[in-house]
Amino acid sequence: MMSTSDNNRDIEILAFAGSLRKGSYNKALLRAAKELAPESLNIQIFDLEGIPLYNADVEAQGDPKRVSEFKETIREAEGLLIATPEYNHGVPGVTKNAIDWASRPAKKAPLNEKPVGILGASPGMTGSARGQSQLRQAFEFTNSYCMPQPEILVSRAHEKFDEEGDLTDEATRKFLGKYLDALNDWVNKFTGE
Ligand SMILES: Cc1cc2nc3c(=O)[nH]c(=O)nc-3n(C[C@H](O)[C@H](O)[C@H](O)COP(=O)(O)O)c2cc1C
Repeated sequence: MMSTSDNNRDIEILAFAGSLRKGSYNKALLRAAKELAPESLNIQIFDLEGIPLYNADVEAQGDPKRVSEFKETIREAEGLLIATPEYNHGVPGVTKNAIDWASRPAKKAPLNEKPVGILGASPGMTGSARGQSQLRQAFEFTNSYCMPQPEILVSRAHEKFDEEGDLTDEATRKFLGKYLDALNDWVNKFTGE
C-alpha cells in the first residue's frame, strides 16, 4: 500500500455509481470527483454493468466473475465513494444489489469496517436525499463507517452538467472539492498511521 505519512499519503478510493445508464448524472458526478479530488486521493471508478441480481444459490456455487472483481477491488481500496440516484424515494435496486453482494460473507465482507462517502444527484429538487439516507441505513448492518458530514445533494442536475456530462456549476464544483477533502480526512481516521 502506498503509504507515506499522516494526511499526505495516497489513499485508494473505489467509487461506483448506482446507475447503469451511459448519460447518468451520478456517473458524471464521480468523473468530476476524480478530477477535483485532492492529490492524496486516488479515485478508481468501477462500472456496475454486468453485476447480476444477488442470488444465494449462485453465490453458493462461487461468486460470478464480475462480482469477484467488484469485491476484490473493494477489499483493496481503503475507502469507498458511492454516487446513488434516488428511485421512488429510496435507494435504486442497482445500488442496493451491489451493496448486497459486497456485504457477503457476513463479518468477513469487503464492506466490513470500510470507510464510505455517499453522494448523489437528481434532476429533482431534493438531489437524491432520500436515496442517500436509505443507503446509510444499509451501512449500519454491514458495519461500514459512513461519513456523517458533509453531505452532497446535487439537485436540478440537468442544469449543473453540460451535454458531455461535465460538471459546469461552479458552486457545486467548489463544494465537491471540500467534500473530497473531508473524505480524505475521514478515511485517514481509520487507515492512517
Ligand atoms: C423508476 C424511477 C424512479 C425515480 N424516482 C425518483 C425519486 O424518487 N426522486 C428523484 O429525485 N428522482 C427520481 N427519479 C429521477 C431520477 O433521479 C433520474 O432519472 C436520474 O437521472 C437518475 O440518476 P442517473 O442520472 O444517475 O441515472 C426516478 C427515475 C426513475 C427511472
